[in-house]
Amino acid sequence: MKWKTAASRYAEEITHLLEKVLGEYPMLPGELQKAMGYSLFSGGKRVRSFLALSSAEMLHLPHEKMLHFAAAVECIHTYSLIHDDLPAMDNDDLRRGKPTCHIVYGEDIAILAGDALQTMAFEIISQAPQLTASEAISAIRILSSASGLQGMCGGQSVDLFQAGKSIAQQDLELMHRLKTGALINASIRFPTQLAGLPAHENELLHKFSQAIGLGFQVQDDILDIEGSTEQLGKPQGSDISADKNTYPALMGMAGAKQYLQQLHDEAKQALLALPYNTEILLSFTDYLFSRNH
Ligand code: IPE
Ligand code: IPE
Ligand code: MG
Ligand code: MG
Ligand code: MG
Repeated sequence: MKWKTAASRYAEEITHLLEKVLGEYPMLPGELQKAMGYSLFSGGKRVRSFLALSSAEMLHLPHEKMLHFAAAVECIHTYSLIHDDLPAMDNDDLRRGKPTCHIVYGEDIAILAGDALQTMAFEIISQAPQLTASEAISAIRILSSASGLQGMCGGQSVDLFQAGKSIAQQDLELMHRLKTGALINASIRFPTQLAGLPAHENELLHKFSQAIGLGFQVQDDILDIEGSTEQLGKPQGSDISADKNTYPALMGMAGAKQYLQQLHDEAKQALLALPYNTEILLSFTDYLFSRNH
């Protein structure tokens, strides 16, 4: 599979860049830096940085122009997971097959590790050597709005607020689009914007990213039931034990899988209509919708 070769090359580059950035800070007494590294380098799939880098490649943008943005997205994603696992949120003790950040370093340091990863993301973009000042500002605008009130944080707050209450399908969709879809969208939106595409191509890439962004969380909901803790590297049944709103809970497992198939088809149709070599993104899309962790 071609995407796998690209994905492991990109993941190595991102890890290398993040190691370099984190290693350049002077060491402080205490364990904040260690906690950040623990979660950054614990074996995430690097889906979002892959999407940024492979979209850039498809659109013939210079690879180096996207590296810092892609690394920054992984910082935001890792921060979101550290906080998501905290006792005040999902209260999970396993992530990527390892004890969660707060289990190893304590809640206080885990909160700070999330905070510092969040600001590090924007520091990385602001120092990206290949971006002009206005390109860096648009990367920051896209990433900050995907992360904040109208993005990941907003979606997470709806997730917490609605737990144990019934939810309408349109609100569940909004929650998923915000808590998970927004960051996935942002990963594709920055390269799309940089490439200055005609409106109809922009629209197709937007449709693609909307479908995979929502589909990613629908699949996550399904895996929470059908996966095993070992395979997932995170506790199976976490949603059920916290009485979370999910697609299988709302429409039944068969309904959720049918909806997932619809999103998969939408994503591929959008890609197939683009006048670019979409081979890698097409096969990656098949992987995303059939992944088992
Ligand atoms: C997990 O994201 C959280 C969700 C948004 C569903 P990933 O499945 O991308 O997590 P890692 O980085 O690969 O562990
Ligand atoms: C989390 O959704 C989305 C985030 C913004 C982190 P989940 O709570 O379902 O993610 P997992 O299953 O813990 O990875
Ligand atoms: Mg959660
Ligand atoms: Mg969770
Ligand atoms: Mg989940």
